[in-house]
Amino acid sequence: MKKILVTGGLGFIGSHTVVELQNEGFEVVIIDDLSNSSLDVLKGISSITGKTPNYENIDLKEKALVEQFFQKHKDISGVIHFAASKAVGESVQMPLHYYENNLNTLIYTLKEVIGLDESNFIFSSSCTVYGQAEEMPITEKAPVQPAESPYGNTKQIGEEIIMDTCYVNPELNAIALRYFNPIGAHPSAKIGELPIGVPQNLVPYITQTAAGLRECLSVFGNDYPTEDGTCIRDYIHVVDLAKAHVVALQRLLNGKNTSNFESFNIGTGVGSSVLEVIKTFERVSGQSLNYIFAPRRQGDVISAYAHTEKANKILGWKAVLTLDDAIRSAWHWEKQIRNI
Ligand code: WQD
Repeated sequence: MKKILVTGGLGFIGSHTVVELQNEGFEVVIIDDLSNSSLDVLKGISSITGKTPNYENIDLKEKALVEQFFQKHKDISGVIHFAASKAVGESVQMPLHYYENNLNTLIYTLKEVIGLDESNFIFSSSCTVYGQAEEMPITEKAPVQPAESPYGNTKQIGEEIIMDTCYVNPELNAIALRYFNPIGAHPSAKIGELPIGVPQNLVPYITQTAAGLRECLSVFGNDYPTEDGTCIRDYIHVVDLAKAHVVALQRLLNGKNTSNFESFNIGTGVGSSVLEVIKTFERVSGQSLNYIFAPRRQGDVISAYAHTEKANKILGWKAVLTLDDAIRSAWHWEKQIRNI
């Protein structure tokens, strides 16, 4: 049974990936500093799979602790690196925290991965590296544009750090997965998205409004050059996204990669506007949503949705769950945690 380290494995995408890794028979070790998650998530994972992953509370910014961990776990066959701060708006207010946390954790972890017998590394990247792409759908060949936020910049710099390291370490094999908009929750409603404080992202704000925690959703701008005036995004079910990590890891474990640094867009290929997401929620939940139109939010791109051919044909992964499935699972999760 191969052992896989998942950093940030108690987070939203990390926890769903741990479930899919266990479903595929991997032994999982989680490192998480609980800065944006809780130990309840570990219970949620084991209640789904019947297996409790090993867990260590380590701050990956502590270089000596990272070295000690890898001394104890020399038999790790792969690392999936989620650990990072990820709030776009917060990153504008706290740039140094984001550069220190997101880059030092990557550097210290990557240094240890190189020393393993099997050096396989999956990096949690983001479609924010494309900024406002010229052409839709966005391919992996689209130029990386100046980041709109320190968060997005840490993803761009992170990919460059990995590329440069792979260049001089041919035994290191890495894949960057560029997520579009992850939403939804595991169908069991035992794990899901747990935003701390006021949700920054659309779907948790919608479900919290419907649950009565928020007065009303503000739609940030309805004067964009789109069909209904609201921004377009590619909303991907978190379970489909989690499965993409397992497929990418298996690609490296089986030596199927054609170069030692590859990147893939992970999205559905379908663009949905904010108003379409709201209408989908109302249809799926049977509840009308209280929302108003508000001014545009700084840093938002007009439209971003994925060209999925490379992931479909080369990685061998395709999203199968729909926007309805994702919104339905997000609402089921919200009702579960609020005992509605
Ligand atoms: C989606 C749309 C908003 C909230 C960000 C990060 C990205 C990834 C996903 C980590 C936009 C609108 C939102 C609200 C609204 N995160 N909106 N009212 O900004 O596309 O992507 O989260 O990897 O890296 O950039 O997602 O859900 O914040 O916004 O109208 O209360 O919903 O303007 O058009 P975004 P989002």
